[in-house]
Amino acid sequence: MRTIIRAVGKAILRTERLCKTFEVGVRRKRVQAVKDLDLQVHEGEIFGFVGPNGAGKTTTIKMLMGLIFPTSGKAFIYDAPIPSAEAKRRIGFLPENPSYYEFLSGAEALRFFGRLSGVEPADLAGRMTELLELVGLAGAADRQIRKYSKGMQQRLGIAQALVGDPSFVVLDEPMSGLDPIGRKEVRDLILELKRRGKTVLFSTHILPDVESLCDRVGVIIGGQLRDVGRIGELLSPRVNSVEMTVDGAVGETAEFLPGRVLARDGSRLTLSFPDEASAQQAARQLLDGGGTLVSLTPHRETLEDLFVRRAAGR
Ligand SMILES: Nc1ncnc2c1ncn2[C@@H]1O[C@H](COP(=O)(O)OP(=O)(O)OP(=O)(O)O)[C@@H](O)[C@H]1O
Ligand SMILES: [Mg+2]
Repeated sequence: MRTIIRAVGKAILRTERLCKTFEVGVRRKRVQAVKDLDLQVHEGEIFGFVGPNGAGKTTTIKMLMGLIFPTSGKAFIYDAPIPSAEAKRRIGFLPENPSYYEFLSGAEALRFFGRLSGVEPADLAGRMTELLELVGLAGAADRQIRKYSKGMQQRLGIAQALVGDPSFVVLDEPMSGLDPIGRKEVRDLILELKRRGKTVLFSTHILPDVESLCDRVGVIIGGQLRDVGRIGELLSPRVNSVEMTVDGAVGETAEFLPGRVLARDGSRLTLSFPDEASAQQAARQLLDGGGTLVSLTPHRETLEDLFVRRAAGR
């Protein structure tokens, strides 16, 4: 794989009023999992598809991958209506709960997936070496998958998604079940894919990962896309609160400051203020009274705040 850096470009994925309704049980109760979804993913970007459990992320991805049929609406990948065999050749996919034949080694499984993806036999060995290196499994290639840790299995899953050298990579919950180190490895891998010119769509409910990785995000709740855009555009720039830690003057100055006490540790006090003006006024009062200002941290809306606000229907 060559390193290509491209500007974020045209929409390679487009959905128009995409809907999926399931009928469950003997009474055929209708569950509308995805409702009128209009989504676009642009060439070269990392798009985060976020939403709480049951929001409709996997259902959407399964429709896009041609695993289930939409009830109504349309979707196009590389301008071809789904399901398209031609588009599929350009897509790499990591399903939500991948399962492997556990007695195979990582290398054997990858060779199998490579053949399934139509990789030329002459190219297979080179592609596998490169991929195992990329996902950090070169040293464990000959170990049986049942002896892989969860993180190693997830990285093998990503290698599997990349085996056909796709230009569009779709990952359903790639960080699920991983520890912070495993998550960082997968994050780095996704950034590497972008550096190589690939477009990445991934779903998650691990919001810090989204904030540090994605060019754009779509927030889906109850099957509906509630927000879509760059994170900076979605979050309110307003300061929600200011946290201040002071020291040295408890009982004299700090006790008289107007903020709400969040924590007390010996002579150190952490206070919260509703806005920057009141925090600055209190800081002056503290310094005039001989106290020490340890830290002053403004809190702006985070993706988590937005997510919780949307989940509460606001
Ligand atoms: N095969 C199915 N039959 C009936 N209902 C289904 C089916 N698949 C999904 N659903 C329902 O559709 C809704 C969306 O589920 P989906 O798996 O798409 O959510 P998700 O956003 O991927 O959630 P999670 O974060 O837990 O993976 C849920 O109410 C779920 O119960
Ligand atoms: Mg899911």
